[in-house]
Amino acid sequence: MAESYRVAILGATGAVGAELLELLAQRQFPLAELRLLASPRSAGQQLDFGGDRLTVQAVSEDSFQDIDIVLASAGASTSKAWAPAAIAAGAVVIDNSSAFRMDFTVPLVVPEVNPEAAATHRGIIANPNCTTILMAVAIYPLHQVQPIQRIVAATYQSASGAGARAMEEMKTQAIAILQGEAPQTEIFPYPLAFNLFPHNSKLTEQGYCEEELKMVNETRKIFGVPDLRITATCVRVPVLRAHSEAINLEFEQPFSVAQARAILASSPGVKLVEDWSANYFPMPMDASGQDEVLVGRIRQDLSHPNGLELWLCGDQIRKGAALNAVQIAELLVQKSWLKPLAAIA
Ligand code: A2P
Repeated sequence: MAESYRVAILGATGAVGAELLELLAQRQFPLAELRLLASPRSAGQQLDFGGDRLTVQAVSEDSFQDIDIVLASAGASTSKAWAPAAIAAGAVVIDNSSAFRMDFTVPLVVPEVNPEAAATHRGIIANPNCTTILMAVAIYPLHQVQPIQRIVAATYQSASGAGARAMEEMKTQAIAILQGEAPQTEIFPYPLAFNLFPHNSKLTEQGYCEEELKMVNETRKIFGVPDLRITATCVRVPVLRAHSEAINLEFEQPFSVAQARAILASSPGVKLVEDWSANYFPMPMDASGQDEVLVGRIRQDLSHPNGLELWLCGDQIRKGAALNAVQIAELLVQKSWLKPLAAIA
């Protein structure tokens, strides 16, 4: 019989948690046990898993005993609080939060881009920020053919990026506005329904918000190019699920649109979506629930002979979070990389 693994989901009741449950069942991850963990608020709640009902437990010191892999998606402070206990219990933590991404001892992995980095883990592997994952999947195949010199990105980010409660908040706001009432805000600082605002993450001294700096720093780390020239403007838009991005790429030499299109048509994790006659290109509604990053509107940058423009949409909860984490777990078991590097050495 093929080996099977004991997996815990920390944050099982959240938007990403729900998707992790669905993906583990759908992709038939070889499970010996699935343990669902969340805050004490959710203890006793039952969740569906492949036709069974599983009971959510409040996370505690004992939660990680006899667990091989922890898929953590309960925010940075929860990850920081519980990762040490999980590692001490012998589990590998695949962490969806920002807690460890820029720690130089922690690999930051997008399986289509830098799978080999996962082999170097010491108990934690970080799942990159959602906008970074989506962009990396779409542009890395071009970078492999001709190194990218500069990236200028603008994002159009859905409510789902802020979790299940944020999605509900936007729906409630939409209903309120349509009924002529004032929209209430709790998760987001301003009404998102029928509106948009620069990304609500913390502003830094440089004038960038943290989300923008995540795109800058994490892309450099994943690509292994510490001085990659990259800048981003991140915007929250009234879309329920799936993020969109407008990306401008500058290369050393001209990169033909035809070649870029041909490369992306056969790149892992990418789906080329272009119907120029119908003006049909990737849309968040079409990207929702899909594994692939939808890429289209590839065109020559009119302002630079070595520039390309492209447009992408990707499901933030799926490839931008849960799917990437499950792919990392699959990589670990397929390559027998579960044991930390320090333990092997
Ligand atoms: P809970 O539902 O019990 O609050 P989302 O990103 O969709 O908002 O989901 C966040 C997830 O993280 C939920 O499963 C939530 O559980 C979990 N979570 C939040 N804070 C904690 C905590 N302190 N300890 C454990 N799980 C937490």
